[in-house]
Order: sequence, then structure tokens, then C-alpha cells
Amino acid sequence: MTDRPAIGIVGLGTMGLGIAQVYAQAGFPVIATDAHAPARDSAKTRLADTLTARVAAGKLAETERDATLARLNVTPDLTSLAPCQLIIEAIVERLEAKQTLFSTLEPLVAPDAILATNTSSLPIHAIAQGLRHPDRVLALHFFNPPPAMKLVELAPHVGTDANAVSRAQQWTESAGKTVILCPDRPGFIVNRCARPYYGEALAMVAEGHKPAEIDAAMTAAGYRLGPFALIDLIGADINLAATEGMHAAMDRHPRYLPFPALKAQVASGNLGRKTGRGFVFPDGPAAPPEDAGAIALRIEATLVNEAHWLLAEGGTTPDGIDTAMRLGLNFPRGPFEALARHGQTTVMAELARLRAAAPDALKPRYDPAPGLRPDT
Ligand SMILES: NC(=O)c1ccc[n+]([C@@H]2O[C@H](COP(=O)([O-])OP(=O)(O)OC[C@H]3O[C@@H](n4cnc5c(N)ncnc54)[C@H](O)[C@@H]3O)[C@@H](O)[C@H]2O)c1
Repeated sequence: MTDRPAIGIVGLGTMGLGIAQVYAQAGFPVIATDAHAPARDSAKTRLADTLTARVAAGKLAETERDATLARLNVTPDLTSLAPCQLIIEAIVERLEAKQTLFSTLEPLVAPDAILATNTSSLPIHAIAQGLRHPDRVLALHFFNPPPAMKLVELAPHVGTDANAVSRAQQWTESAGKTVILCPDRPGFIVNRCARPYYGEALAMVAEGHKPAEIDAAMTAAGYRLGPFALIDLIGADINLAATEGMHAAMDRHPRYLPFPALKAQVASGNLGRKTGRGFVFPDGPAAPPEDAGAIALRIEATLVNEAHWLLAEGGTTPDGIDTAMRLGLNFPRGPFEALARHGQTTVMAELARLRAAAPDALKPRYDPAPGLRPDT
């Protein structure tokens, strides 16, 4: 296996250019393209600006910047990607666009070249459908911004060749990333297992708790940002779209319910940092409430439960889930580490308490996942 094969990138927007930087900085030749001429024409300058800022901050040597830039080859023509052994698409998030791109690329590249998608929400098996070699397709899901975020979720579909998985993993690890394997399921690990962090906080708001107090409880429990500060950072509109996407993809299970408080926040236009006001932004931190411990236990019990539901679907491990949640969300501990702190009996009792107190429509939120058992 070639140590540093050429990597192809299609789509030179926020993610594609960042992913190109990751591999180019690690010594891989990168051949990149975009359907939109201005995105191609500006790519080198955008990368040069990013790298020059790092040189100015003393974080990168000038020689490294120049070598990285020299490794990025931008082309208008998909056929120039022929020598690439791994091609990553970061184009528009539309199934037909990704299918069309891969079926155009397939005859242009080597029979064993890997076609990887950076999709956040589309099923990998659906993207692979219709190809002559669907076994070469997998997801390499980078986080924004790719150069700074250490985590990459690697999701094969059921028919992906094991050799394609190991090559994509090895090259991406040698580009400095922590690669976590996960199943071809909605939201992969992070976007799915994070849902209760927001959802349970919103359920508490519906019961009369204040967002700032919930945030203070979670920061007191070691989380860098509370759920509402995190929604304000991401944007309430983006968070609502992700929640609605998960809700639809998971047969509208109430564990993924888009709560009215989130919809109302979006309707108010106070989306968070980007609009100058959100659930808690720009107010300073509040003091933790008296029931801070109970709030944190409630949220962590539902995080533990969601992680066990995902684990039961196969394709990942407790360690993988914990690592993904620490790296992808900056959580102080993953759900299985949280479980070890509380003990299964406490978590099961908390889920049973929440189930008993919830209105009928929300009771299934707290059904314990297979694998969660009281301590013996
Ligand atoms: N932005 C994020 O935080 C984030 C995080 C993880 C994954 N993703 C996923 O990454 C992908 C790209 O997201 P982005 O935020 O970089 O988008 P973006 O809009 O910044 O960039 C997309 C680029 O793809 C180009 N493009 C569109 N259709 C094309 C086609 N058919 N062929 C070639 N080029 C095409 C566009 O001209 C544009 O430059 C999406 O699938 C998205 O879901 C985004």
C-alpha cells in the first residue's frame, strides 16, 4: 500500500478546503476540484491566507506553509483525479448530487480507489447505490473546522470492502486524525449521541427550568459549555434542522423530539451568537442552582441511554463512542465514562423516575436500551 497516495477532493467550500489542508499538511499530494469556478480560483489564496495566519501566530514554519501549498493542485476537470486512491466529496448535501458525482468518478479512477463522502445526514448505502463497485464507498465524516478538529467518523455501509476501510483509516490517521469506526446510521456517533444533551435540557425548560440554570448545572458538572450555550454557538436554526433530521430518520421517535422551546427560539430570530442574542448569549454565566446535581444526572442518564441504543445497533464500541464524544463535542467524559461514575442502578432508577413523571407521549424517551442493567 502506498504510504502517501494522491488524495482527491471534490467541493472546495468550508469542509472540502479544510480537508484538503489536512492531507496536504501531512505530506499527501492533493488534487482538488469544484463545480463552481470562483471556488476553484480562490482556493489557493484561501488556503494561503489560513496558513499565513498560522505562520504569523508562530504555529507553522514558512517552509511548511509553502510545501503544503505546493501539494495542492486545483483542477477544473474531474478526469485529473484519475491517479487518486482516495477521493473525498464535500459537495452540496443532496443525495442525487452525490450519487451522480460518484457514478461519474467511478470509471475515471482505479478499480480499487475509495470513494468517500463527508455527508452529515445521508445514508451511505444510498449514496453507493447504482455504482458498479459500491464496496468502495464509505463515509469519512470530518468536523468543522477540519484542520482543528481531531475526530473523523469512518462509516462503512454493510457492503463496504474491509480493505477500503483499513486503507482510508490508515491514511487519515497518518494525516493526524483520530478515526472512529461507526455504523451507517443517522447522525453516526456524535450528532446522534449529542441529541439528549439538548433534548433533555429543552424538556426541562418545558417544565419551567431556566436555560441559564441548566447551563450552570452542566458547567458545574465539568462540561465546557452548557446545552444552551452550545446551541447559541452552533445556531438554533442549525440545531433545529439537525434535530428534525434525526427525528425523521428515526421514525419520529420521541427521543429525538424537536421541542416547542427550540422552534419558538428559531421563530423569534434570536438564533445565538450569529444574531447577537440566543437562549443565554450574550449574558454571563449564572450560579449553579440548588438542584444542579439532579439536572446533571438527568442529562447524563439520557446521554448514557442513547449511547446504549446506538451500541445495540452494532458497528461501534463503548470506547469509540466515548472518544468520539470527547473529541467531537469537547465533553469532559463520554457516556460510558459517565455511566461508570453514576453506576447502572442510579442511571436505571433515574430513567424509571423520568418515565413515570413524563406525559404518555414522552414516556418512550426513557425506555432503557438493551444492555443497560441494574448493577448486580
Ligand atoms: N459545514 C459543516 O459544518 C459540515 C460538517 C460536516 C460535514 N459537512 C458536509 O460536508 C459537505 C459540504 O459542506 P460545506 O459546509 O463545506 O458546504 P459549502 O457550501 O461550503 O461547499 C460546498 C462546495 O461544493 C461545491 N459543489 C456543489 N455541488 C457540486 C458538484 N456537484 N460538484 C462539484 N462541486 C460542487 C460548491 O460550489 C461549494 O464550493 C456537505 O455534505 C455537508 O453536509 C458539513
